[in-house]
Amino acid sequence: MAIPGCMRTMKRVLLILSLILLMPIIVWADAAPDGAALFKSNCAICHGPDGKGQTATGKSLKVKDLGSKDVQKKSNADLQTTISDGKGSMPAYKGKLDQAGIDALIAFIRTLKK
Ligand code: HEC
Repeated sequence: MAIPGCMRTMKRVLLILSLILLMPIIVWADAAPDGAALFKSNCAICHGPDGKGQTATGKSLKVKDLGSKDVQKKSNADLQTTISDGKGSMPAYKGKLDQAGIDALIAFIRTLKK
């Protein structure tokens, strides 16, 4: 019988096709920015891995504890502006991080709240 064989091949082709179609979604989900990792690689040098700013650079620049009320009372839009445009000695990250990265960092900063 030719038809069942043909169906089997078609099923296999469909299975492979759907795997190929799903692949980018899986990879994309994997590549969603990790706020904690971004913070560690971009911000921890001044703000410390825990955001408290207890690093040599952080102390000399007098950075605030990012978990403190002072910083946590700011809106996401304020944090966004500081991160993308910089502020005082705080460098601007506009060209370095995309919006998804900045969003992930803001979410990470919110986890530092006491
Ligand atoms: C070169 C050191 C340095 C690095 C690197 C740095 N910051 Fe800062 N950051 C500062 C300083 C200094 C301030 C205080 C700025 C001021 O109030 O004048 C600050 C302030 C902040 C504030 C408080 C904003 C406010 O309005 O008071 C946030 C939030 C912040 N930084 C987030 C980040 C994030 C997220 C990163 C990484 C993408 C980062 N910083 C990297 C030095 C740094």
